[in-house]
Amino acid sequence: MEEKFNHINRVKGELFLPGDKSISHRAVIFSAMAKGKTLIKNLSESEDVKSTISCLQNLGAEFTFDRNRVEVDGTGYLGFSKPTQPLYAGNSGTTTRLLTGLLSAQKFDSVITGDDSLSSRPMNRITTPLRMMGAYITDNDGKLPLQISNVKHLNSIAYQLPVASAQLKSCLLIAGLHCDEETCLIEDIPTRNHTELLLGLSSTKKAGATYIYSSKRNYPVSGEYIIPSDISTAAFFIVLTLLSKDSELILKNVSLNETRTGILKVLRAMGGNIEIISENTSNNEKYGDLRISSSKLVNVPLEASIIPNIIDEIPILAVAGLFAEGVFKIRNALELRMKESDRIKSVCSNFRQLGLQVEEFNDGFIIGGSAKNKKVIFESFGDHRIAMAFSIFSLLLEEGGKINNFECVKISNPNFISQLKSICR
Ligand code: S3P
Repeated sequence: MEEKFNHINRVKGELFLPGDKSISHRAVIFSAMAKGKTLIKNLSESEDVKSTISCLQNLGAEFTFDRNRVEVDGTGYLGFSKPTQPLYAGNSGTTTRLLTGLLSAQKFDSVITGDDSLSSRPMNRITTPLRMMGAYITDNDGKLPLQISNVKHLNSIAYQLPVASAQLKSCLLIAGLHCDEETCLIEDIPTRNHTELLLGLSSTKKAGATYIYSSKRNYPVSGEYIIPSDISTAAFFIVLTLLSKDSELILKNVSLNETRTGILKVLRAMGGNIEIISENTSNNEKYGDLRISSSKLVNVPLEASIIPNIIDEIPILAVAGLFAEGVFKIRNALELRMKESDRIKSVCSNFRQLGLQVEEFNDGFIIGGSAKNKKVIFESFGDHRIAMAFSIFSLLLEEGGKINNFECVKISNPNFISQLKSICR
């Protein structure tokens, strides 16, 4: 499906976006693991979270839906049942990696599969340490499908994370919830810490690194989760507002978890008018209302240590950077090549179509020049964040633009178009 976007004049209004995708994945997994009923409010409406739910249903957890509230009846410790079919994780890396940590500890065999994009993404980052814990996993040359065999006993480990990945960290912390002894993960560069916050895990800092611990004592219990709105989804609307004339947008209840607010920090350093007008906390997660208004942006250097914090926002940040003074440069971001598409290649290829000056590196890119006013069809590469970044870009171009294979936006935000319509004038 192709979607056309015409140039807009201004942004005005207020949005209450659905729940954060990363927090929602964890909320449904922990609710399914806990014994008894848990209520989740403002759950993400993304296909990715639906993939996690469908896998958990196949494992015996029960879900009752009432608009954006969900009641989960969890199975309790080692209460999952052997799935009758392979678990299908769709397009979702988080589903695969977090559930593999969970499945590695179960007393039954299981298989986890995914779509073509997911089947090309690296899984050895999780299988290597899980095998060190005693898990028995067969893979397809480091990729999906994974066959996970019934284990007698999982051992705790002390493990220094070789890649800055919250999915890897969470996979091992979840496996660690099934061990008597404490698993200790050592993280050099901070990544999103939702697993730690929602489970109330303890951590210490030593010589710049964070040591995070999980064991049976941290196994989740039933209760209630209120999910803040997704800051990665909000980022598209924030950039559109900053770059549009005479514009103002209020975003309600956006996640303000410090391992995710790098995008706000960078856009503010670029000169973006982004004000936090209220702050609150639920389930240890900070959130608040934001006021965003039109701004003149200037490119700033991006340090290596901030990359994991802004990893999902880099495509839309590149759009902001193109309209800002100076050139947009990103390095130390090799992980971008391992996402739903090779995001370095996807972004560079779309920008090249407009005759922009693009220099591609193994771990990043530089974009400069000004966009020629010509009609273009951008490619989504089946990647939701590329589709949305170039939709925003199209709305800012005099000539507008079209996005090919636009339907993939449902992976994180099926209501992207109606949300845009409600604020674009
Ligand atoms: C996620 C972590 C990030 C992010 C992904 C969601 C999570 O991936 O890109 O969209 O929910 O843990 P990595 O941790 O693998 O970089």
